[in-house]
Amino acid sequence: MTPDGPLPSGDGRLVLGIESSCDETAAAVVSGGETILSSVVSSQIDLHARYGGVVPEIASRAHLQLALPAVSAALEEANCQGRELAAIAVTTGPGLAGALLVGVATAKALALAWGVPFVAVNHLEAHLYAASLEVGELELPVVTLLVSGGHTMLVWIEEPGRYRLLGETLDDAAGEAFDKVARHIGLGYPGGPALDALAATGDPKAVAFPRPLMGQGYSFSFSGLKTAVTRWVSNHPETPLADVAASFQEAAVDVLVGKTQAAAKELGARGICLAGGVAANSLLRERTLQVCEREGLAALLPSRAMCTDNAAMVAAAGWWRLGSDGPSPLDTPAQPSLALGAE
Ligand code: KG4
Ligand code: ZN
Repeated sequence: MTPDGPLPSGDGRLVLGIESSCDETAAAVVSGGETILSSVVSSQIDLHARYGGVVPEIASRAHLQLALPAVSAALEEANCQGRELAAIAVTTGPGLAGALLVGVATAKALALAWGVPFVAVNHLEAHLYAASLEVGELELPVVTLLVSGGHTMLVWIEEPGRYRLLGETLDDAAGEAFDKVARHIGLGYPGGPALDALAATGDPKAVAFPRPLMGQGYSFSFSGLKTAVTRWVSNHPETPLADVAASFQEAAVDVLVGKTQAAAKELGARGICLAGGVAANSLLRERTLQVCEREGLAALLPSRAMCTDNAAMVAAAGWWRLGSDGPSPLDTPAQPSLALGAE
């Protein structure tokens, strides 16, 4: 990681991204904000599974062990040396405080050691860049549905780097609802993907769960839906769990897609973009594709690996931020509650 010999020139476009905001330790090298040369994701799922969720202290310790090996692997796979980098970009927030600190301290130390610029990246903005990494430059304006374990928001993007928050969840995030329902029906952690798989074998019309705030603007609410599902399971133990999973997923996706479609129509979007871990959900992807086809909109769906936390999206957002704002000060703090820089 500390190369000897003559200073390599690189092409001035390589950004190393580092991500440690939750339970994935990730590092990636991306050229010019668009070509992924490497993307390493070290998942901590096994460490947290026995506790049924992410344990912040365990996450921080695991990031400490995994961060430098992830960086080494990403550089090696990209066949690049630290001093060739145009910048090191890192998620500074939002996320778990102790987890963020590990990535931020690692990025600052490496930036100092290699003499390359340091760029602070907002994790939510990074998710928004995942689609453009795979689809190329987006034809704006687009409506992006950003759905993860911590966030559920509809974002209007008219110009690169400028975001208008149309609405967000008033209580639980969509991913949180998937995880809590999954846990309640015994699917363990992480629940979203397991619930997705179980739902594929069930009847989505078996139970008519509520569609909270459907047709009422762009705010979301998932806590009542989650409670309705857990209550149903207690009161109707005879209902097959696959039917419960499918019916819950149907209700959640109905709301997510319904509001996204309404926003696209009302504001005149050219496309719909999905971002965040829940964007890996099979039904959400299928329904979004159907809506886009019907309405003549571009469907911007990152691959599943790009939807969940990774560092390639951090590097892409970092490249863009470097060009628009320049490097960030080395005393930039980790900010657990950082908001999307909305207008
Ligand atoms: O973006 P992400 O990797 O991390 C956060 O920033 O939160 O999102 C993780 C969330 C978890 O709640 C996980 O259960 C959910 O995304 N998720 C899914 C699926 N894959 C991941 N939810 C539903 N269906 C999936 N296939
Ligand atoms: Zn995320």
